[in-house]
Amino acid sequence: MKITIVGAGAVGASCAEYIAIKDFASEVVILDIKEGFAEGKAMDLMQTASLNKFDTKIVGVSNDYSKTAGSDIVVITSGIPRKPGMTREELIGINAGIVKSVSSNLIEHSPNTIIIVVSNPMDTMTYLVHKTSGLPKHRIIGMGGALDSARFKYRLAEALEAPISDVDGMVIGGHSDLGMVPLTRMATRNSVPVSKFISEERLNQVMEDTKVGGGTLTKLLGTSAWYAPGAAVSALVQAIACDQKKMFPCSILLEGEYGLNDICIGVPVILGRNGIDSVVELDLTDAEKEHMSRSAEGVRKTNGLLAF
Ligand code: LAC
Repeated sequence: MKITIVGAGAVGASCAEYIAIKDFASEVVILDIKEGFAEGKAMDLMQTASLNKFDTKIVGVSNDYSKTAGSDIVVITSGIPRKPGMTREELIGINAGIVKSVSSNLIEHSPNTIIIVVSNPMDTMTYLVHKTSGLPKHRIIGMGGALDSARFKYRLAEALEAPISDVDGMVIGGHSDLGMVPLTRMATRNSVPVSKFISEERLNQVMEDTKVGGGTLTKLLGTSAWYAPGAAVSALVQAIACDQKKMFPCSILLEGEYGLNDICIGVPVILGRNGIDSVVELDLTDAEKEHMSRSAEGVRKTNGLLAF
């Protein structure tokens, strides 16, 4: 199993580290445009191998796509990250060009690959790859919902004063502050609805804190987060590589599901060796449907800024 990660920045490197630690891939190639940078990250990570007990070979390359040939899964993290106060949507001008050329280079060397898009604005970047790559839709996956759901669970556990392993919850919709749809109604503590333990007001606070999860970190760190994004990507990569048939909310091209068409937005899917195995259609309430449709409007507005 060969995996390529484009972008040796903080998200790409932490993604490579988590994949290596889980030790399910034979090779991880990290590619970066900056001369020597990916080589340095790969060497540093390889020097953790004996300590962290993994055999995954990590290779760094400077913009040489021939070294990515035959990748089963590729992850695109390249582009500029947010600075404090910026929205993900403001990155479109620079990141669209980068994502378009990176995906075409990757596909040229790995025509059968599955692509995971992480670059922001992620739903629109995923849509761009659909429009420009010619890959079948089950092989293009945007990573946002897995991260937003992890942040939701963190906030739920905090509110419930419960261990995180006790809570479950999912965020669908667009990967943006206004677009996220945390499904509070379905969130549980060991199968018991969380509304049994906390007030509606506290639950609303959880929802609001979840939606600005990335922005809160960007303010604290001066740039966007990397541990949870890297861990979320590695979970998707593992689900595909190990054919786990796990369910994650991912940004995928919808063709009628959830009443939406010609848009990439987060919905629950089952991930396996072929990428998206199937879409899980939830019975949403009218309020949740309304929230989802407002989210889709926001994503479409950003998609409208794309020039193919
Ligand atoms: C975040 C970036 C990865 O939410 O979108 O941290």
